[in-house]
Amino acid sequence: MSGWEDSKTSYGDPEFSVFLRRAFARHLGFDDADFHKPVIGICNTYSEVNRCHTHFPPLVEAVKRGVLMTGGIPLEFPTISLGEVFTSPTAMLYRNLAALDTEEMIRAQPLDGVVLVGGCDKTTPAQLMGAASADIPAILLTGGPMLNGEYEGRTLGACTDCRFYWQEHRAGRVSEQELEEINQALAPSAGHCMVMGSASTMAVVAEAMGMMLPGAAAVPAPDNRRLRLAEETGRQIVALVQAELRPSQIMTYDAFVNAIRILQAVGGSTNAVIHLVAIAGRLGIDLPLSLFDELGRSTPFLANLRPAGRFQMEDFAKAGGVPAVMKELEDLLQRDCITVTQHTVGENLAVYHRPRHEKYHEIIAVREEPLAENGGIAVLRGNLAPNGAVIKPKAATPQLLTHTGRAVVFDSVEDMEARIDDPDLKVVAEDVLVLRNAGPVGAPGMPEAGMLPIPKKLLVQGVRDMVRISDCRMSGTAFGTVVLHVAPEAAVGGPLALIETGDFITLDVPNRILSVALDDAQLARRRAAWQPRFDKATRGWTRLYQEHVLQADLGCDFDFLRRVSVQSAETQPNKT
Ligand code: FES
Repeated sequence: MSGWEDSKTSYGDPEFSVFLRRAFARHLGFDDADFHKPVIGICNTYSEVNRCHTHFPPLVEAVKRGVLMTGGIPLEFPTISLGEVFTSPTAMLYRNLAALDTEEMIRAQPLDGVVLVGGCDKTTPAQLMGAASADIPAILLTGGPMLNGEYEGRTLGACTDCRFYWQEHRAGRVSEQELEEINQALAPSAGHCMVMGSASTMAVVAEAMGMMLPGAAAVPAPDNRRLRLAEETGRQIVALVQAELRPSQIMTYDAFVNAIRILQAVGGSTNAVIHLVAIAGRLGIDLPLSLFDELGRSTPFLANLRPAGRFQMEDFAKAGGVPAVMKELEDLLQRDCITVTQHTVGENLAVYHRPRHEKYHEIIAVREEPLAENGGIAVLRGNLAPNGAVIKPKAATPQLLTHTGRAVVFDSVEDMEARIDDPDLKVVAEDVLVLRNAGPVGAPGMPEAGMLPIPKKLLVQGVRDMVRISDCRMSGTAFGTVVLHVAPEAAVGGPLALIETGDFITLDVPNRILSVALDDAQLARRRAAWQPRFDKATRGWTRLYQEHVLQADLGCDFDFLRRVSVQSAETQPNKT
């Protein structure tokens, strides 16, 4: 039955509902010959406020052509758009709102299948969360990364270089004029940020999971191959509807294992840990943080991409992109997973040949000569993070990965902003900067403030990295020895709330430890005197968010949107 006739609108008489719907569908220009055709929704996150999506109109037209060519009816509809740098206080506060919008609009409208068109950081996970819950045939199409920027012979990447050059400016090494020239070259084309930041990472893991056509994550936004991918996506969604292949059949536990392996191999964003847990949670699949660490230890690091490496997405695409990484790791992958091609991962890889030129091996290393023996994200635990925290060791200073230092504590983002450059702040390079009340509930929305600025007085002395710890996130484009997502967060009484300036904190990444030199009795005494210190919203979305958001280790989804667990590491012990 076509979506037109699958009556959902209730008037107390199902046949009348179909009659009425046909009358109104005729107003859209459709007629009897169309009423049996599959209706394909094109869930479009285009918005003029979202600069990463400026090139969506021709992409969407190409998807429509593909749908029409294969006998479907494409109907575009808008959902919330989250442009990362133009959404306050942080786009993450609205990811679940966008996911709800996506889920409900897919479910409420007469659709047989849906193409999800997104790209900026939070749109991709939101669309996958919504599609997972609605569970009708779906394919993702991301907008693709920007082309490389360039300044004075040096490749520029947004927003790794936004941060790098801003820090150098604060240190007095880059002038106002240079900064302005760099600013003009940082975002040179359509597309999302072009390093392996959160947007690129989410596109990569979505492709690895089988929800996007092979090769689609890396092709730059202005490259005409993206239009061809869009048209092919339109053709393929009609095939998926005919085959009744749903997201829940594609995004299985094994598919998430593949996604985590590729995340680790490309040194992807720590934000992907939160998003993958949230997407899986919509399908009743548990992804404990320990699984990320375990897979990271047995996954070689292959992609030499900023901020953890040298190259950018344009180069990654030339070297073969996700299929090349998957080909190198083929024996580690779950090859029986079905994908939106209607073929398995193994079948897709069997017909794929990665570009042969040796220069591409610098960008995506061959399996025999990896950049490192293990992956890009590590999970820490200890009395400071009982439910876990994450770090990107490959984007950190190696000497700081084992470090004990005196805590310098900031009670909120505002407190940190007010005091970090205070000449009277007692801080030395060996200290550990701590930011708290910046988690999902406390901030709220867990902003990307985790790469705390190095205090100016240390910058001018030449210090460029320090151990930094927080219950918030950092941009996937950021770098440094930065511990993130400490759970539980301070606002709900996690141990981070109890530490004081002067306590000694130990970071031991090789042994996966994050601890404070306080015993249980000391922590208990401080807990007895502790009071929450964050603003509670009294109305609207933020109130709903603060009342229902889960902690980072559970993906920051809402408690009432996760499905009860049906698949987990415990039920699939041999699958890693
Ligand atoms: Fe959209 Fe960076 S601002 S991906």
